[in-house]
Formats: sequence, structure tokens, C-alpha cells
Amino acid sequence: MKPTLFALPGNERAARALASALGADWGSAAIRHFADGESSVRLLSPLQGRQAILFCTLDRPDEKIVPLLWAAIAARESGASRVGLVAPYLAYMRQDAVFHPGEIVAARHFAALLSRHFDWLVTVDPHLHRIATLDDIYTIPTQCVQAAPAIASWLRATVNQPFLVGPDEESRQWVNDVARRCQAPAIVLHKTRHADRCVEIQAADLNAAAGCTPVLLDDIVATGSTMVAAANLLRRAGLAPPVCVAVHAVFAGDAFAELRAVAAEIVTCDTVSHSSNGIALAAPLAEAVSAVTSIASR
Ligand code: R5P
Repeated sequence: MKPTLFALPGNERAARALASALGADWGSAAIRHFADGESSVRLLSPLQGRQAILFCTLDRPDEKIVPLLWAAIAARESGASRVGLVAPYLAYMRQDAVFHPGEIVAARHFAALLSRHFDWLVTVDPHLHRIATLDDIYTIPTQCVQAAPAIASWLRATVNQPFLVGPDEESRQWVNDVARRCQAPAIVLHKTRHADRCVEIQAADLNAAAGCTPVLLDDIVATGSTMVAAANLLRRAGLAPPVCVAVHAVFAGDAFAELRAVAAEIVTCDTVSHSSNGIALAAPLAEAVSAVTSIASR
């Protein structure tokens, strides 16, 4: 029996692309808020004995989590044989350590919450830094789609002589992978974050980038401080304005406008719906869902 895929509000475009790549039925749901702000979820498609897939990217997670959990519970109470989650952007992964006394490792608690309500999880390039793999914190089967192949093929088709620049150590994994796939040179800069919107970036030597198109690549743009500081450093080194590429277009507040002022172009994957989305990931997401559903149903 085909799975039924439900899009949580705001996810319709990417969810439709995934449903079509998977050959899944489109699920119908009524999700709304009462006047007092409480969430109401009603699944309208029959689910008895069928697999339910909920599609909900988890940027701005706090406003999304209650309707998402209600939908998962509704799917289970409607008789779904399995309930899976496709969250192309997985929240809370950057809270992966206690940085100051009194904090919590929110990544672990968020993982425990999702693991209680879903049978499997598919996501794209989660921010794995101090936590090595999702299996360290999730107790359900997970699959991580890598955006690097799609980013590399976009770069090969679009950018002449790219020179990959990672703004910080955490971006090294993406930068090295994409650079290898494009056979392009790469460098990783050094970042010190003093506060959410205050970062300092340093580079040893950018001479090798002369004559190339600088391409800044990072997993997430949130406040934009990292990319903007890196772009300013490239400009001070006499390089052209960079092509800025990110997997997850979180773009808080004025981040997009601020980055546009210093970038030649901004392109992101479609893990968070945004006007900069130019790299579609429906095909690898469908492969990951197929892989995890066969693991989860063994
Ligand atoms: C963390 O190191 C990540 O890889 C990104 O560099 C970071 O999340 C970007 O955040 P922001 O846009 O707020 O500087």
C-alpha cells in the first residue's frame, strides 16, 4: 500500500515534490489555531494500516512542534502502521553542549521528544559537531541526506572556476566534500563567535583564490553574521563579492538583506522555504525515505 504524506503548514511545495518522487498519496489535514492560540489538528485521509509520513521542516521549531506532535498522535490513533517524519531542517542541533552552567543539551531532549512520537526520521545535513551521529541521540532509525552532491552539481553547472571558502571549522565537512566533487580548491577560515550577532573571522592566506570566483559555503545561515563577516574578509583581501551557498536558509530578521549587500549571489537548498532556494533535494529525500522505511519495517 502506498504511504500517505501530509504537509504541515508552509511545507506544501517541497512536500508535493517529495510525494511525487516517492509515489506517495497526498494526505489531507485541517490544521488551525483556536483564538487562544492552541493548535487543532484533524487528519482527513484514511490511515488504517497505512504508513503516514509527516513533512515538517523545523526552522522556527517552537511554533511548529505542538501541531507536529498532535499530527503524529492523530496519525497513530487513526491506525497508521508507522509514522515517519521528514524534517529537512532539524532544529536544536546547535545546542549540542552545555556552554554555560544552568544550560541543557537541548539537542538530546529534542531528540528524545521526537523519538517518542515517530518511528523514523529523515533529515538533511543536520548540524553534527559535538554530537557525532544522530544515532547518539535518536532512538529511532534515521537517515541523513547529504546536500553536497546537489550543491556540487549546481556549482559545476553555474560557477566558473569556483574557489570554495568555509567560514569556520564546522563548515569543513561540507566544503571539503563539495570541493572534491567539483575538483575545486578550498580553504577554511577561522571564526570566533563573541555573541549571536558578533563574529570575527580570520584567514591565513587567500592568495590562491586570485582569479577565481569565491564561493562561501556553510550549512546554515541564521543571523547571517558568519557569512557577512566572511564576505567582508574576502573583500578586504581584494577578492570579488562571493557567491554564497548554504544548505539551510534560516535567515533570521534582516539577515538576507544584509547578506545580499555583500554577496554576488545567494543560493540555498530547498530545506527551508525561501526565495533563495535554487537547489532541489526531493530526489535524494525520496531515496532516504525509501531506505529508512525498509529499515523501520524490518
Ligand atoms: C555554526 O557554526 C554553523 O555552521 C553556521 O556557521 C552558523 O550557524 C551560522 O549562524 P549565523 O548565520 O547566525 O552566523
